[in-house]
Order: sequence, then C-alpha cells, then structure tokens
Amino acid sequence: MQDFQNKVAVITGGGSGLGRELALCCAARGMKLVLGDVDEAGMQETLRLVDTAHPGTESVTMRLDVSRLEQVEELAALSKSRFGGAHLIFNNAGVSVNGPIWQSTVHDWDWVLGVNLYGVVWGIKAFTPMLIEQNEGHIINTASAAGWLNGPSSGIYNVSKTSVVAISETLALDLRDAQANVGVTVLCPAFFPTGIHQSDRNRPADKAETVEKSEVSLKRAAALKYAVEHGRIPAADIAEMTLKAVENNQFYVFPHRKIKQLIKLRAEAADREEGVFDSMNP
Ligand SMILES: NC(=O)c1ccc[n+]([C@@H]2O[C@H](COP(=O)([O-])OP(=O)(O)OC[C@H]3O[C@@H](n4cnc5c(N)ncnc54)[C@H](O)[C@@H]3O)[C@@H](O)[C@H]2O)c1
Repeated sequence: MQDFQNKVAVITGGGSGLGRELALCCAARGMKLVLGDVDEAGMQETLRLVDTAHPGTESVTMRLDVSRLEQVEELAALSKSRFGGAHLIFNNAGVSVNGPIWQSTVHDWDWVLGVNLYGVVWGIKAFTPMLIEQNEGHIINTASAAGWLNGPSSGIYNVSKTSVVAISETLALDLRDAQANVGVTVLCPAFFPTGIHQSDRNRPADKAETVEKSEVSLKRAAALKYAVEHGRIPAADIAEMTLKAVENNQFYVFPHRKIKQLIKLRAEAADREEGVFDSMNP
C-alpha cells in the first residue's frame, strides 16, 4: 500500500513504545487510528501525543487482551463499525520473561505465548478476511531478532518470536496463493528503548506464578534491561522504517544491520554441524 491518507491503522500495543510511535507515524500520514492495549492510560497518552502532533486525527481505543480471540474479533468489529474497515494491521503487542527454560512456569508459557504468539495469530484470523474482501491492506507482525537468534534466558520469548517469523512467511505465501491484494511485513529489530523490560507491569494476576530468579537469571535480566535502555535506534526511527517497508511492499525488515550478519554466521555454524551458535559470542 502506498496511499495511506484517510485509511485505517489498527495497532495492538498502542499504549507504549513501538506501538505509540507507529501511531504517530500513521497519524502523520493522515490515517485514522484504532488502538488496542491492556493499558488504557497508555493509549490515552498516545492519543494526547497524536493530537498535539497531528490535530484532528480520528481515533478510537479499545482495552483488550490480544491473547483472547473474541476480544481481537471485537477490535475488528469496532474498526469496521467506526471507520468502515481496516487497512494496516500492526500485530505488535508483546511481553517478555526471563529464566532458564526448565524453571519456567506454566503461567510464564501461557502469558508470553498468549500475547506474543496467539496475539498475532488472532490478529491475522480476525482481520485478514476483511482485508481480502476490501482487496486492499497490509499486515505487519512485530517479531524480533529473537525470531532468528536464540540468546540464553529468553527461551519462551525466542519460541514466540521464531513462531511469528514462521507465521508471517506462511501468511505471505497463503495470500499469494489466494491472489489477494494484501501485503505482509515481518519486523525483526534487535534491542531498542521501550518498556519491554518492564513487561511485568501488565502481567495478569491469574498468570502471576513465575521463576524464582537465580543469580544468573538476575544477571541476564539486568543485561537485557541495559541492552533495551541503550539500544541505539529509537523506537520512532524503527516505526518510520516500518511504514517505509509497507510503502515498498517489503517483507523482511531488519532495522539493525548486524542481525543479518549474525543470521549468516548461525547458518554457517549449522552448516558445519558444530556446537550451539551463541549470537552474543559469535
Ligand atoms: N524493545 C525491544 O528491544 C524490542 C526488540 C524486538 C522486538 N520487540 C517487540 O516490539 C513489540 C512492542 O514492544 P515494545 O518494545 O514497544 O514494548 P512496550 O512494553 O513499550 O510496549 C508493549 C505494549 O504491549 C501492551 N500489551 C502487553 N500485554 C498485552 C495484551 N495482553 N494485550 C494487549 N496489549 C498488551 C503493553 O501494555 C504495552 O503498551 C513487542 O512485540 C516486542 O516483543 C521489542
């Protein structure tokens, strides 16, 4: 898609970080906004910033949990009833948890896969038929460098993001088979400054049981926090690169160039059938 004026952007995780910046980028292009997030106050702050930067932007918010299909379907119904459809679908909400895989709890798995994996799956399921019927639209799934490179202490997150890459590739091929005029982009950034390292703030009470942090886990969590806070590319730039990718109908987006080099090194290590590839010490 290239002409975004008066079109509709649906953004999950629109109450913080990358989702907020995507909202600002879409508003700058004259789009209407449909924001979905568990954090209503965060979405209101996004709308305040949007209204300051781009007064007159039409918007609606819905407090929802993306891990629940019926709630994502309600979001699609809201977009249709309020704005007549939806054009750019950003399946972006995400959370992270740390700890060795054998210690991760059932709640850790349910929570992170619920948001990061099922959130994307339900977004695709709820919105794709609308886009096919309109014969226009683009689905943007936020994966991660962790969709390609598996660092320690992030097993559940790595699984979720690897799955998002897999789903995105398959979706693009299925849409091609269906001859649908619907694009797909998969966004694969490395660390950048947002609230992702404080994901616990939105963790539901009924999925609270988690790993008791060992010394190693605490060190890994501190390193993750540092990497996120010191990420060199701001979320605003990543959002802008993403919109440009949609305009160019580009499928893969790697905002951090080094990631592609590491993926090649991983493929070479696999080709040599050696010990496990460590992207932190390639
Ligand atoms: N920041 C990074 O370093 C980084 C790197 C690679 C990928 N990502 C991905 O970027 C995406 C955006 O995250 P971010 O970095 O902006 O973090 P963030 O914490 O700033 O924003 C995530 C948003 O998702 C919302 N959210 C959490 N659970 C939800 C649920 N169940 N339903 C609906 N909304 C929910 C949060 O309230 C928050 O507004 C995520 O998918 C994340 O995995 C982030």
